[in-house]
Amino acid sequence: MRWLGKDVSRCVCKAQRDAQLAPSDGPRAHDEWSERQMIPPTIDLASVRLRGLRPEDAVAWHAYLSDPLVIELTSYPVMSLPAVQSMIDRCRAGYAAGTSCTWAVAMKAEDELVGTCGFNALSRSQGWAELAYDLARPYWGRGFIGQAVEASVRWAFEQPELNRVRAFVMVGNTRSVRVLERACFTREGCLPAYRVCRGEPRDYWVYGILRQQWAQTPGGQSRDNQRDETGL
Ligand SMILES: CC(C)(COP(=O)(O)OP(=O)(O)OC[C@H]1O[C@@H](n2cnc3c(N)ncnc32)[C@H](O)[C@@H]1OP(=O)(O)O)[C@@H](O)C(=O)NCCC(=O)NCCS
Repeated sequence: MRWLGKDVSRCVCKAQRDAQLAPSDGPRAHDEWSERQMIPPTIDLASVRLRGLRPEDAVAWHAYLSDPLVIELTSYPVMSLPAVQSMIDRCRAGYAAGTSCTWAVAMKAEDELVGTCGFNALSRSQGWAELAYDLARPYWGRGFIGQAVEASVRWAFEQPELNRVRAFVMVGNTRSVRVLERACFTREGCLPAYRVCRGEPRDYWVYGILRQQWAQTPGGQSRDNQRDETGL
């Protein structure tokens, strides 16, 4: 698989699937092959699936971002449906450009978006990726984001240039802190008035994990037995 002009294939099967969809196979294969470059790989986890964001996910994402309790401890503004549609367009463009990687978190049976997880920014030249996630309230407290975070971090450290995953969490966002600490992130400091959230400057904690730290964690030591990367 090519990403940012570099060959990051790890799996012969995946490379073969990509080869089967090479543009020379005709117009339909060309469309599918192009789509594959536009969206992150699908990763099936124990309860949920990480898959690329689709334009039609905007309605579900917008619905839960309209829940004041979901955005209360985040920097999300109150968003209209068109704004969420544009955000999905930016996520897809960011992955294609190699500057971000955001998945939809979907229930495996219905394949409908119930959350998002991934990296809203990353820099291969600087070796970091910035983790972000959110979930519709009915799905909180079931371990879904925990699974998604673990898989996202694993994906990051499969990218040879990435050495550090960081996350910024509004001071007081205890649920998010638990997610990060369960994933073995370290709190590295506090950034006063780091982001203006719906008009108010808010302090943020910065959390991080380095590749070598992650390799010592349970997630880092169980690399291949917890997921099934299925491509599109
Ligand atoms: C932050 C957020 C994603 C956390 O979601 P969550 O569902 O609470 O987090 P997890 O997926 O880790 O779930 C863990 C909880 O599920 C429970 N759980 C149930 N089954 C589980 C399982 N199989 N595995 C792990 N945890 C499980 C755990 O007991 C745990 O509860 P606890 O934290 O009280 O110990 C969610 O609260 C959210 O979307 N908030 C709004 C947006 C936001 O703040 N985003 C982060 C910005 S930095």
